[in-house]
Amino acid sequence: MRAWVNGRLLDDPTEPSLPVSDHGFTVGDGVFESVKVVAGTPFALTRHLERLALSAAGLGLPEPDPDVVRTGVAAVLEGQDLPLGRLRITYTGGMAPLGSGRGGAPPTLVVVADAMTAWDASTSVVTVPWPRNERGAIAGLKTTSYAENVVALAHAQRHGASEAVFANTAGNLCEGTGSNVFYVVDGELRTPTLGSGCLAGISRALLLEWYGAAPVVGVPLREVDEPVEVLRRAEEVFLVSTTRDVQAVRRCDERDLEAPGPVTAACMRLWSEREAADSDP
Ligand SMILES: Cc1ncc(COP(=O)(O)O)c(C=O)c1O
Repeated sequence: MRAWVNGRLLDDPTEPSLPVSDHGFTVGDGVFESVKVVAGTPFALTRHLERLALSAAGLGLPEPDPDVVRTGVAAVLEGQDLPLGRLRITYTGGMAPLGSGRGGAPPTLVVVADAMTAWDASTSVVTVPWPRNERGAIAGLKTTSYAENVVALAHAQRHGASEAVFANTAGNLCEGTGSNVFYVVDGELRTPTLGSGCLAGISRALLLEWYGAAPVVGVPLREVDEPVEVLRRAEEVFLVSTTRDVQAVRRCDERDLEAPGPVTAACMRLWSEREAADSDP
């Protein structure tokens, strides 16, 4: 692992480097990005930097300077042999009083690079009893306030699954703790709209674009919000995310599914072709 903190590459990435009153640490006042690294090159970095800026604006943090973030990215990747890795870019409110109010200190910017193991081609998911609040102040922002995801994922893992799937407060399908959900039902490939409160996933956006240009014959793609119970009659389900790419779901709650089904397999192929063709789509 390598870490760059506020302009300095650490000699030891585990050394203490942030004040204990950093607002990201004390109250989760921060935003972040996880970026896949393939053969030493970050994938879709421009889109990730754009989303970092949107999330920061959503929290009212000053706009992060993309060139400074890129400097941090270059510093943690330089001279590393990283066939498959991930970057974690974290940007917080910086030093602050111990409550929810911010201080006037400059933000904290941290970039970490580490190796990553590829996910299995298929996985199991469970739906969880807690809703995503699509009307909340931080809905759709990639903030470091991820404790709800931690609890939900632990629940999923206790049930033998690798991802937890949320409905929102309206009872509609929303997203996973770290992934967006696609499914095939009634002859359509579907995914929740951004109005569901899901994160505007970069993998989701890319797949929507790429599938739109090369759909499976006879299987249109539609963004739609509908009750989470639709998963009970879905023929195929798959997850998309920065670390999972397109990952087939072989078990959803108590139900086994074909994994990958034909549409999922086509999306997996599409993903690997397009990813190989352009590292910053
Ligand atoms: C809550 C949530 N939804 C969806 C995603 C997928 O987004 P992306 O494709 O940009 O990784 C993530 C990514 O970590 C996430 O944290």
